[in-house]
Amino acid sequence: MPNISQRGVDMPASPIRKLAPLADAAKQRGVHVYHLNIGQPDLPTPQAALDAIRTIDRSVLEYSPSQGYRSYREKLVGYYKKYDINLTADDIIITTGGSEAVLFAFLSCLNPGDEIIVPEPAYANYMAFAISAGAVIRTVTTTIEEGFSLPKVEKFEELINERTKAILICNPNNPTGYLYSRREMNQIRDIVKKYDLYLFSDEVYREFIYTGSPYISACHLEGIEQNVVLIDSVSKRYSECGIRIGALITKNAEVRNAVMKFCQARLSPPLIGQIAAEASLDASEEYARETYDEYVERRKCLIDGLNRIPGVYSPIPMGAFYTVAKLPVDDADKFCAWCLSDFEYEGQTVMLAPASGFYTTPGLGKNEVRMAYVLKKEDLAKALTVLQKALEAYPGKTV
Ligand SMILES: Cc1ncc(COP(=O)(O)O)c(C=O)c1O
Repeated sequence: MPNISQRGVDMPASPIRKLAPLADAAKQRGVHVYHLNIGQPDLPTPQAALDAIRTIDRSVLEYSPSQGYRSYREKLVGYYKKYDINLTADDIIITTGGSEAVLFAFLSCLNPGDEIIVPEPAYANYMAFAISAGAVIRTVTTTIEEGFSLPKVEKFEELINERTKAILICNPNNPTGYLYSRREMNQIRDIVKKYDLYLFSDEVYREFIYTGSPYISACHLEGIEQNVVLIDSVSKRYSECGIRIGALITKNAEVRNAVMKFCQARLSPPLIGQIAAEASLDASEEYARETYDEYVERRKCLIDGLNRIPGVYSPIPMGAFYTVAKLPVDDADKFCAWCLSDFEYEGQTVMLAPASGFYTTPGLGKNEVRMAYVLKKEDLAKALTVLQKALEAYPGKTV
């Protein structure tokens, strides 16, 4: 039998999904599982998008242009303008989710062996896409003790060598909920400029910023316009994970031309998804406000609740809908598996994502988990009770 590729061997299993068989087994036993592990929003998709899909009036569901429909890209120009990001429709390439935008950015900008510096903990699929592109992720470590703020310039510079080609940030951050300050963004800009690197900036959570601090996009940074590749997605902002629509945005025509060749090879981004995404741009302000307010309340409910449990600590996330919390356990991987396989409280348990999968440095995140607050407040409150009971009962507890 032939061997599978080294790449196939090296691909990490998703830290979010790898406990899924244990969760399935718990459900089979009749246990209710609160999913705090996955960032799939449960809030409604804008009515305008649902209506647009319901009333599709086409006789052929054809391929769309490889870069996406012009009408949608033109409308997006207005959306970005509201965030002070000045684009033309030609700067925007529609992709099959933000996921494909990350992959195409890597494939277009990096040679095998090229290195990308990423603050860790990081969205785990970046590692998977880097392996797909033969690129190497090098991490600068951020810590829960420092609220996951960006390490000093020297920490980046220690990693920079002739293979370093890019910095990748996620802002607001998944998994930490951290929002980079103007000072931090300027620090990144200076490094990008000094070493002439690409800056891949994943800003899929820009709608969800809960502090008074301003949102500084990579596109706001002066002097590195040609270096910036923005990754975007409608999955989170409109609760539209399933329509698979994202975007890769750059002022750099050479990068766009390369990306377009990958786009042409995969023919077309989703047709129906684009129809829904374009209609979503007409969603009411009320929709945006209600969605936002709901996350504000959920954040408060989860973070307050976590910090009330003895031995648990969560910083207050400034954006997105995640937090990385420290638990009083010997090993969060074991604890998360144990919750699903050996524990229940009144017929319920919790599913959390062990944070180790978001770090590349071995041993880090050992007593941390990522939690998403995409459940209703009542369910979050119940999940917190179950978590507290689980921590009391866990044999490997440390308090
Ligand atoms: C930070 C970040 N980037 C990109 C994505 C990919 O989103 P999608 O492919 O659904 O657009 C996600 C999804 O969870 C994410 O959290």
